Amino acid sequence: MSSLGSCDFSFGGKDEEPPAEPVSWEALTPLHSRYTAQFLIGNIVSPPDIGGVRFNLLKKHFNIATAENHMKPDAMQPSKGYFNYPDAMVNAVLAAGMQMHGHTLVWHSQTPAWMNTGVSKEAAIANMTDHITKVMTHFKGKVISWDVVNEAMRDNSSSSDNWRESLRKDESPNANDNSRWNQIIGDEYIEIAFKAARDADPDAKLYYNDYNLNMSNSNKAYAVYNMVKDINQRYPAYGGRKLIDGIGMQSHHHLNTDPATVEASILLFESLGVEIAISELDIQTVFYGSPYSSFTEDAAKAQAEKYAALFKIFKNHAAIKRVTFWGLDDGTSWRSSSYPVLFDKQYMAKPAFYAAENPGKF
Ligand code: G3I
Repeated sequence: MSSLGSCDFSFGGKDEEPPAEPVSWEALTPLHSRYTAQFLIGNIVSPPDIGGVRFNLLKKHFNIATAENHMKPDAMQPSKGYFNYPDAMVNAVLAAGMQMHGHTLVWHSQTPAWMNTGVSKEAAIANMTDHITKVMTHFKGKVISWDVVNEAMRDNSSSSDNWRESLRKDESPNANDNSRWNQIIGDEYIEIAFKAARDADPDAKLYYNDYNLNMSNSNKAYAVYNMVKDINQRYPAYGGRKLIDGIGMQSHHHLNTDPATVEASILLFESLGVEIAISELDIQTVFYGSPYSSFTEDAAKAQAEKYAALFKIFKNHAAIKRVTFWGLDDGTSWRSSSYPVLFDKQYMAKPAFYAAENPGKF
């Protein structure tokens, strides 16, 4: 039985019949080649991937990589002054002809306590800016863009125009979704971080990155919009251009995501004159609240249709410069039980792959 459902798509770049059996990643036309003129197509990488089949898959279908964990603050500077740069991974990515995106410099999570706990405000600023400066200087010319600040906004953002009210703060010290950075430095930590980043590598594109930015949670999208608007109005030419170059919409979606809510946010962010990256795309298919309790042929088709609807939107927006998937295969995705990405755990293309490569035919 075909695992591809009844969708009408082209296979292998020609209008052939869809394959009767699942096709391995090796036999397919590179996904990134479908979008050469529009945006980069990315996926995540980890050091153990280098040199193996996973790396071959990555370099065939994707032209930019993001480190899943190894460029986060706790990985790169676990103790003060001790840097653990993943050079072999970054060099392998570049040697394979891909580009590298940096994730992430300032975050409330995966950040060592020494940076911002039990220290003065001045020491916290120094620790944060020193981390940004050293890391970006180290990777200058190798990393084209950075998530400078990640996930600064609360999920229940305020409806007020004052974006500062929506920032995470360390109000309940044991909650891991609160931000020590805002608590100890104050909301200006965001612009301090972006200025340090621009100073360290003026050629790198500087992004603010967050999740749930589609309009189903419109307060959060508006909080990010108001923050980027305000900071860029106050720094219209820092290093010759707007301080924040782009907004990363993580895009951890599910079958119930309404694509219209995604496009509404793209339009909102576009109006700021900044770039947009779809920075961590996946679509949960088997999850609490899904119509599917297992990954059936119908579930795979529904997922593919959702990917196709999103890619049709992405293709229509020139502000989108990169679409990065968060997972090479369902087996190793951070949400593997929900079958969220383009390849199954045997690295066979799912219907979602064909939807991403040719959404118009789906
Ligand atoms: O490496 C250790 C291993 O030694 C240990 O035995 C094991 C026990 O739990 O943990 C391993 O570390 C885990 C690490 O992933 C590597 O697999 C951590 O516990 C786990 O928390 C960590 O999860 C990562 C998560 O960020 C942490 O916040 C996911 O891999 C990674 O996909 C995820 O990525 C985030 C983005 O950075 C930001 N946006 C959301 C996205 C998904 O959560």
